[in-house]
Amino acid sequence: MPPSDSEPLARGPVPRGLPSVNGGISASDDIVIKASGVTVRFGQKTILENLELDVRRGEILGFVGPSGAGKSVLLRTILGLNPKQGGTIEVFGIDYHGANERERLSIERRWGVLFQHGALFSALTVRENIEVPMREYLDLSPKLMRDLAMLKIDLVGLAPDAADKYPSELSGGMIKRAGLARALALDPEIVFLDEPTSGLDPIGAADFDQLIMTLRDTLGLSVYMVTHDLDSLFQACDRIAVLGDRKVLVEGPLSTMLSFDHPWVKSYFHGKRARTVVTPNAPDADPSKSESAGVR
Ligand SMILES: Nc1ncnc2c1ncn2[C@@H]1O[C@H](COP(=O)(O)OP(=O)(O)OP(=O)(O)O)[C@@H](O)[C@H]1O
Ligand SMILES: [Mg+2]
Repeated sequence: MPPSDSEPLARGPVPRGLPSVNGGISASDDIVIKASGVTVRFGQKTILENLELDVRRGEILGFVGPSGAGKSVLLRTILGLNPKQGGTIEVFGIDYHGANERERLSIERRWGVLFQHGALFSALTVRENIEVPMREYLDLSPKLMRDLAMLKIDLVGLAPDAADKYPSELSGGMIKRAGLARALALDPEIVFLDEPTSGLDPIGAADFDQLIMTLRDTLGLSVYMVTHDLDSLFQACDRIAVLGDRKVLVEGPLSTMLSFDHPWVKSYFHGKRARTVVTPNAPDADPSKSESAGVR
């Protein structure tokens, strides 16, 4: 049976302790995205109401919540693909939605997006897909674009011969990597990832998490990751934000999630699936299970 979209996905053991929170580039208080009082409605239906959220420079923020809560709506709203009825969203300190054309373009050049399922153009090769944002935002020679695209292909761990393949010729994991390479085309400071590990096998998903952590550490990226994947949350994320009741219910490190008293948050982080990946540091971790955890 395919995994339910609303359920957390567990995929095998994870290392002990809370990795990466203080590893590599540590999250500073520098805010790259600030959502204040954001309200989004479709007709009579209010999806988000007075939502508050901060994303800090250099952190991997995991964004979770029940299916249909509005995670994708918020992502699309931040990206300006969705209108909002109230509030402000500042990106790099600039109100993106109130900005003029020049300011918006300059912000768009500083972010990259990996949409769910990769969203690659099927008629273009991987290399041509990666060149799309370069053509849109930069004025580079064809040779330079080609060279840069090959660098991105290498950066995400794809073999050079993937460059001339079409999306239909790629595996699911290769599509995610190609999508990530396109998201990195403009050397962004923020990347938005929508369910980056869904559909990957456990090893592929763990490799992808590792790639994201490495890129964060080496490029200083800020990462906004919508995910249902408990392993990604436990393994890769510095902080987690939970969407529920039309707002961010709680925002903080894993330890905050584990002690937060809310029915959905409790069942998500202490549910059956969570217990298979929970670390010995967690308040209710089962030591016998933790002993057998090992390193992913
Ligand atoms: N363009 C739209 N017009 C009307 N309603 C919409 C639109 N986009 C999203 N919605 C509604 O907003 C709500 C939140 O949808 P959204 O896709 O953000 O959920 P989600 O939290 O991303 O869920 P999932 O985990 O399943 O991806 C849903 O009820 C959806 O039907
Ligand atoms: Mg969604």
